[in-house]
Formats: sequence, C-alpha cells, structure tokens
Amino acid sequence: MSATCVIGLQWGDEAKGKLVDLLAPRHDVVVRYQGGANAGHTVVSGDQVYKLHHVPSGILHRSVTNVIAPGVVMEPTTLLKELDGLQSRGINPLENLMISERAHLVMPWHIVEDRISNRQIVSGESIGSTLRGIGPCYRDKVGRTHAMRLADILAPNLKERIEEITEYKRRWLTALADDGELDSLNASAIYEMACGWGERLRPLSKDTTHFVLDQLEAGKQLLMEGAQGSLLDIDHGTYPFVTSSNASGVGISSGSGVPAKWIKKVIGVCKAYSTRVGGGPFPTELMDATGQKIRDIGREYGTTTGRPRRCGWFDAVAVRYTARLSGIDRLSLMMMDVLGHFNEIQVCVAYEIDGKRVEQFPCLADDLRRAKPIYETLKGWNQDVTGVRDIDAMPAEAKSYMKRISELIGVPIGVVSVGPDREQTMFLD
Ligand code: IMP
Repeated sequence: MSATCVIGLQWGDEAKGKLVDLLAPRHDVVVRYQGGANAGHTVVSGDQVYKLHHVPSGILHRSVTNVIAPGVVMEPTTLLKELDGLQSRGINPLENLMISERAHLVMPWHIVEDRISNRQIVSGESIGSTLRGIGPCYRDKVGRTHAMRLADILAPNLKERIEEITEYKRRWLTALADDGELDSLNASAIYEMACGWGERLRPLSKDTTHFVLDQLEAGKQLLMEGAQGSLLDIDHGTYPFVTSSNASGVGISSGSGVPAKWIKKVIGVCKAYSTRVGGGPFPTELMDATGQKIRDIGREYGTTTGRPRRCGWFDAVAVRYTARLSGIDRLSLMMMDVLGHFNEIQVCVAYEIDGKRVEQFPCLADDLRRAKPIYETLKGWNQDVTGVRDIDAMPAEAKSYMKRISELIGVPIGVVSVGPDREQTMFLD
C-alpha cells in the first residue's frame, strides 16, 4: 500500500518507459500525471516497439490499470491514434485504461499558439518546443477562462463553449499570426471534431482522483510514471528552457492527487551520459565527433519530433541537484552499453563560472550558459556489454564508473540497463 515513483533526472529521454514497463507487473496501477504528447515513452517487448505519448507505459500488462491523471494535458487526435495503434497490435486499452475527466485538452488553437510563441527568441535562443501545444494549454489551465477539460467535451454546452473560445482566440492571435495560420480555427469544424473525440473517450473518462485514493486505501501498489526530466521542471529546471509542468518529483502529488504520505520509494532514472533536445544551456554538450559518436551509437533522435538530440558527458552537478530535489532513493543508470565504445570517459564534477569553482547547480540559465565543466577522467571499458546479465560480470572499468557516479550523486544504484530490451536490465536489489 504505497506509491513508487519513476522520475527522470536529466532533460528527458532517460528511458523511463522501459523501467515503468518492467516494474508495472509488480504494481496494481500505473499513473501518468503530467506532460502530454511532448513525451515519447518507448517500450520494447520482444520484436515489438511501442512509442507511447499519453498512455502510461504499463499498458502492455493486462492485469495493471493505467491511469491518465488530472495533471496531464491530452491532445485527443494523438491520443486516439495511440489507442488505435495499440488496438491494431492486439492490446485493448478499453480494458485497462482510464482518463481523468479533470485532465485538460490541447485544442487546435493551442497548437497554433505554440508555433507562434516558439518563434519568440528568449535570451538569444528559441525554447525549441515540441510544438504539441503543451505550454499554451497549461497557460489556459492556469488562466481558467478559456480552458477545456475532458469533462467539457462531454457537456451539453460544448458547441457554445467552442464558439466562444474560438472567437476569442482568433481575435487575440490575429495580431501575431502569419497569413493563413488561423485557418484551422474554425468553430464548426472544431465542434465536429470534439464530438468525435467525446464519443470515443466517454467510456474511458472517470474520476481518477477518487480511484487512486481508493486503491491506496485498499492496500494496492501504485507506480507513478514521470514524463520529461527534472531539469525541464517549470519551477526548478533550467527556466525558461523548460517544459510547462512539474517534471521533477515535486509534481507527483499535484498531478495525480496522491498525497505525499503514500510515496514510499522514488527511483531516479538517468543515462550514463547526458542529452538534451531543444534550446537551453547544456554545460557538458559535445559539439564534436565524440558527441556525434554518442548520438549514433545511442540512436539519440527524438521519439516525438525526430530531432537529433544534443549529446554530452554525464553531468554530476546537475544530477546531484535533481536527485535531491526529487528525493531519489535509488538510481537507475541507463545506456551503459552506449558508453562501451570509449577508452576514456569524462564526468563533470563541478563547474567553473567566472573563474570560480561551483558545485551547486545554478539558478539562472545565463549562469549555466557560462559554466565550464570541470571534468574527472575515468577509464572506459571499451567492450560490448549488451549481453551482460549479471552485474558482477560487468568489466571492472564499468563497475568503477558506476561506483563513482553513485558517490558523486550520493544515491545507490539500483538498476543498470545495457540495451533497450527488457532482458538487458540488471536489478541490484
Ligand atoms: P514543450 O514541452 O513542447 O513546450 O517543450 C519545451 C522544452 O522541453 C523543449 O526544449 C523540448 O525539446 C523539451 N521537451 C519537452 N518534452 C520533452 C521530452 O519528453 N523529452 C525531452 N525533451 C522534451
């Protein structure tokens, strides 16, 4: 009777989906509680690869109930495509998925707004949004007057509501939009589309807040699936180069409705190196052949947008910060196989900012932009570890690397991954 949480400790794409899929059978319920279609969670089962955006990564396990909680923002067309894709491969989400009627919807105007906002340069750079309408949808949620929740597309006044909001959005965006950019904001077309969404989503729409509380009180085990990574957290990340939700551990309760007293274990997921998609400072970024080598071997291209991910060495300053922030009990170190192609590996142990050694992750993006990594060089293992299934059989250099990462972060390693398949995972405790 507790909740275990899986949280990304870097800038997203840490392979949380794989871990959630592995842990799901030991739990009764998997809860996705923030973010939206900007997330891309990959689950590999045998020769099948599933790319999930909204649906929790426990969906492949029929005995597990999967919940999309109030903190998620859903883009219904993408969600329905995802459900159809699962159905076409023999998985029926109607059997084990429920969606909170409180969850907000990403509407067509949000996608247009995201495109317009993303043209804005912030501190010399674009945020590089995934253009899934995430920021504008969360902005309307907080603004309250023009938001749409799942419950709203099931309500009798849907037509009037859509007419009212479309009219407002057209007036508001006219000053900023390019020619033709508002053509998709047609109230009757959006109404027709929303009726179709409502028809299909009605059977899945539930009061998930009471459901998860009932489950906890009945002694069930919950698994909370974080999306994105802690460094993209709206309050604690590399603002303004962040996403619009609380992607660190602090978002678990607000997004899901699970009070902190039930949270018993938090697993922090990080790659053995670093990646980032979109704009924003990234002190250990490698703009050279080594960065390209990591990208090629790690197949570091975005699940949602296909964009090449920026790659660099492991940043212990950043992960030490996010592990503390998210209250991490165990680290799950992913992609150890990708680092198995180097004679030497660098780990950033501190920054130099304006000539001073800094060990605490800075608050301001501009400070982080000036941060020069101070590296410690470790011996690489330079061998294929994709077939290793027992931690004792890992090369000595790989064990030293893991030990040093754990020391620098101050958290024991509980899971090590050496490839995308379920079998390529070692649980240490
Ligand atoms: P947005 O969440 O689409 O507004 O994007 C804001 C920033 O977060 C951009 O830099 C994105 O590339 C990044 N981002 C959003 N979702 C993810 C994710 O799931 N993985 C990695 N980066 C993400």
